[in-house]
Amino acid sequence: MSLRQKTAPFLETIEDAVLDGLHGRSMLLTDDWSRAEVEAVANVAATLELLDRRGVPTQFLANELLYALFFDNSTRTKSSWAGAAVRLGGHPMVVDGSSTQVAHGETAEETGAMLGMNSHALGIRHDLILGEGNKFMRSVKAGIDDYLRQGGETRTVPIVNLQCDIDHPTQTLADLCWLRERFPDGLSGKTIAVSWAYSPSYAKPLSVPQGLIMLMTRFGMNVRLAHPPGYELMPQCMESATKHAAESGGTFTVMKNMDEAFAGADVVYPKSWGPYDLMLERVDANRQKDTERMKDIERRALERNRAHTDWICDERRMKLTGRGGALYMHCLPADIGAEVSAGVLEQFRFSLAREANKKVYVIMALLAAAKTTGLRSKLFGLAASAR
Ligand code: CP
Repeated sequence: MSLRQKTAPFLETIEDAVLDGLHGRSMLLTDDWSRAEVEAVANVAATLELLDRRGVPTQFLANELLYALFFDNSTRTKSSWAGAAVRLGGHPMVVDGSSTQVAHGETAEETGAMLGMNSHALGIRHDLILGEGNKFMRSVKAGIDDYLRQGGETRTVPIVNLQCDIDHPTQTLADLCWLRERFPDGLSGKTIAVSWAYSPSYAKPLSVPQGLIMLMTRFGMNVRLAHPPGYELMPQCMESATKHAAESGGTFTVMKNMDEAFAGADVVYPKSWGPYDLMLERVDANRQKDTERMKDIERRALERNRAHTDWICDERRMKLTGRGGALYMHCLPADIGAEVSAGVLEQFRFSLAREANKKVYVIMALLAAAKTTGLRSKLFGLAASAR
């Protein structure tokens, strides 16, 4: 099949008006975008992947500086940002947030003005403290926009949320792309179990399960959220998931039992996150810069986790899923022997890598849509001219 034929199902479903509406847009929460906009990005990502795998250059952002600021560790997202930037012909710069003057108290607005004047798009990860990450990103954006407006500049510098306290959009959009590929007949009516799982390593952010329940409920999926008592998610995300499920014809159900969540599921996404009350307590300790209290909160979070070591995705639980053959997903890294058994992880090793590989194309799609005019016809042109 020619590249033109392969890309046609994706490109032909994108409405020009929807794609044009993404020009200059930041991705701060998937909830800020319409379902049509999310689908347009997924279709652009799928097209870019096909072009990339065929070796077709997609240099829409030549000579642009694509700057990313990380206030937390990362393997996949950092390299996906760099990989996306280079594939688009831009120059990536990935910076440790703690090495910037933010650590000395420079405001988010001022940081935004400085980074915005020098770069053409910005990625930010700021995920550790509830109530802060997404707010920081919005303040950075306000700083950029204010600087550009006052200088009479018409260019825009979009921000891509590379994980915040509320959402992890490039992860959940990558997950959506992987699900669309694995279930080509559609996601409507499919059941996904988003379950808490035991971790001894650290109190992990809430943003992945929150992002998943907010996004997958928009596609008619039956989303089950399971966790032990005390591991609730942010109320605004729960409300969003409930609303989306009602609108899409899907369902959103909260369960207290991992077996029940896995029973008959088509997809399972078991991963750990921190106890909600301790994540809230961390907000105050962080504000006071009380490092001893931060350490104590982390110690108590791991102690709390240890009461639920039986929340593991293992072979027995996978047998409970639909025909014993659910798709296992994880944003990675996974705690092997705690969140998931070594055997299940090994069985899905390549599948997990393909899931992770979608992120580079999602970031490319977000940046290309935000910064390229006439993107759909340009993509058609590249697909048509490829050998
Ligand atoms: N899933 C994910 O965001 O991985 P990293 O933390 O390695 O970026």
